[in-house]
Amino acid sequence: HSEDDIRQTDVLIIGAGLAGLSTALSLPTSLSVTVLSKAALEVCSSHYAQGGIAASLDKEDTVADHIADTLVAGAGLCEVDNTARILSAGKQAVEWLCQQGVPFTQISHSDTQQKTIATLRTSDLHLTKEGGHGCRRVAHADDATGRHIMEALLLKAQAASNITILPYHEALELLTAPFSRHLDNAAINHCHGARVFDHINRRQFTFHSSAVVLASGGLGQLFKRASAPNVCVGDGVMMAWQAGCRLANLEFVQFHPTGLVLGDSHFLISEALRGEGGRLYCPQTGTRFMLDIDVRAELAPRDIVARAIAEQIESNGLGYVHLDVSHLPAAFLKAHFPQIYQTLQTLGIDMTAEPIPVAPIAHYSCGGVVTSADGLTDVIGLYAAGEVAYTGLHGANRLASNSLLECVVVGRHIAAHVPQYLKAITKPNRPLYKIHSAQAVCTAWTLPLLKETQAVALSPSSSHLYVHSDIKDNTHFDVDAVKITAALKLLMTNNMGIVRHADKLEQALLLVQQWQQALNALSDEKAFILLKDGTESYSTSGTDLNLSNCVDESAILHSLASFQLKQQLSLASLIIHAAYQRCESRGGHARLDYPDTDREPRTSVVYPIVELDSH
Ligand code: SIN
Repeated sequence: HSEDDIRQTDVLIIGAGLAGLSTALSLPTSLSVTVLSKAALEVCSSHYAQGGIAASLDKEDTVADHIADTLVAGAGLCEVDNTARILSAGKQAVEWLCQQGVPFTQISHSDTQQKTIATLRTSDLHLTKEGGHGCRRVAHADDATGRHIMEALLLKAQAASNITILPYHEALELLTAPFSRHLDNAAINHCHGARVFDHINRRQFTFHSSAVVLASGGLGQLFKRASAPNVCVGDGVMMAWQAGCRLANLEFVQFHPTGLVLGDSHFLISEALRGEGGRLYCPQTGTRFMLDIDVRAELAPRDIVARAIAEQIESNGLGYVHLDVSHLPAAFLKAHFPQIYQTLQTLGIDMTAEPIPVAPIAHYSCGGVVTSADGLTDVIGLYAAGEVAYTGLHGANRLASNSLLECVVVGRHIAAHVPQYLKAITKPNRPLYKIHSAQAVCTAWTLPLLKETQAVALSPSSSHLYVHSDIKDNTHFDVDAVKITAALKLLMTNNMGIVRHADKLEQALLLVQQWQQALNALSDEKAFILLKDGTESYSTSGTDLNLSNCVDESAILHSLASFQLKQQLSLASLIIHAAYQRCESRGGHARLDYPDTDREPRTSVVYPIVELDSH
């Protein structure tokens, strides 16, 4: 790299969603902070969150009740200590958002009685209800909570002189080095920046930083129908794993029960509609089917509702069921759900008078990068928060609206930890492991769950176990990245969707592996790229990707697309392996061939392949 390819910042935050901006705004203003956004600033899942942010705010509610509901939905897989720490900070998190100017919906809807946003307190907020919550607990801003929160935080971040936000900047790889001053010489990496691709100028550069925060969002776009925007392909999870982090519970991809089914729409029909009385019907028979499935009917935890809808769809052949709110007062619906009402109006549906066609949609990754409640990962100097991370809060099935809360709480915990960490690394003799190391993360994980973990097979050589030579219909591969990406989404939806079976998972593993081989063969044989110095290089070579040397723009873009696809295929393979090896049904993971739930819950952990340089 030439000099001008290198930039410097104190803290590099990868992702400009709620976790990233909560961290940025809570860090001391004496630190220079750079926030990367892969695309335009509003292209993040936080922006699209509808329902709201769960916290125990009502006089009748308690944190203990919120924890209890979360543990029930999590089906035995929540990390109890982290869950308690994160949910206990709920009220302060919502108070902080009020201070940032978020226009939460207030109890009274009469304009004259509305408080100005500047004086808003948590006791003023209207609370809605969602599936799995025992009471009204969800603070919201109409039905576009995420958008209102993000607009308020972006205004603050853009006004902060220590924060630089870079849209259209994609992190490709974390920079790591072995960390030597560790207690027991275990293999531990230290993160000191990232390689970044600037999509505006189509060039790659290196960002050096003292701390890195991964807030890059989830992986919904590995599936065909997803509520997440296009950028959410799990790249942060892969970067962290490649840097030396453990990953946990990747098989627990949550499907939201009610995505709109109309053309290609990825629009969500918020659970809050069911919270306010919305009912689900079979379009052909008019049966309110949830009544026969769970005493909580439409407000059962979302894995139960999503599976019930999927079963209906399987038998009715229509591709959707009906969500009906037409029995609720029209004025109430228009006032409380203006975004959903307007969106449906433009699509020709008047929800005050007719049912809405809905089907489950890939929505949230409950697993991710193993992280403490303070956002510490296994790699020193690397933090993670939000959907990319696994704190154990969501267990086997996330409780609605707990995720926005986790973004704010863990983001602010990270911001409190970073200054201690930065102070420690400037003192060479201070034993860092006492403050921040994988050892510290491990001691946070003393719950029985993790002691009983089963390592998910992860070495590439182990995948041959799942290759079945009798699957012959895919011997010819198209190595067009766009086509493979589309085929991967379909495969994940069909074979790794709401219900799973060993046969389909094996088939999926085989296909993914064959695509990987095809891509590798392509890069080995054909796709040489002419470098500026006249030599040739492979276009696709995993983390050896070096775009800055590519001669022309099409070579750069081709190389980037292949790299991204390889990362997605690797992640898909880890997810499918995890689902294959969990031989039980629990929460969001339903196996037709293993319908029972094991007595002992276990977290599935993928260990990193860390090759540390011994020098
Ligand atoms: C919704 O509004 O239904 C989404 C809430 C969530 O996923 O937490």
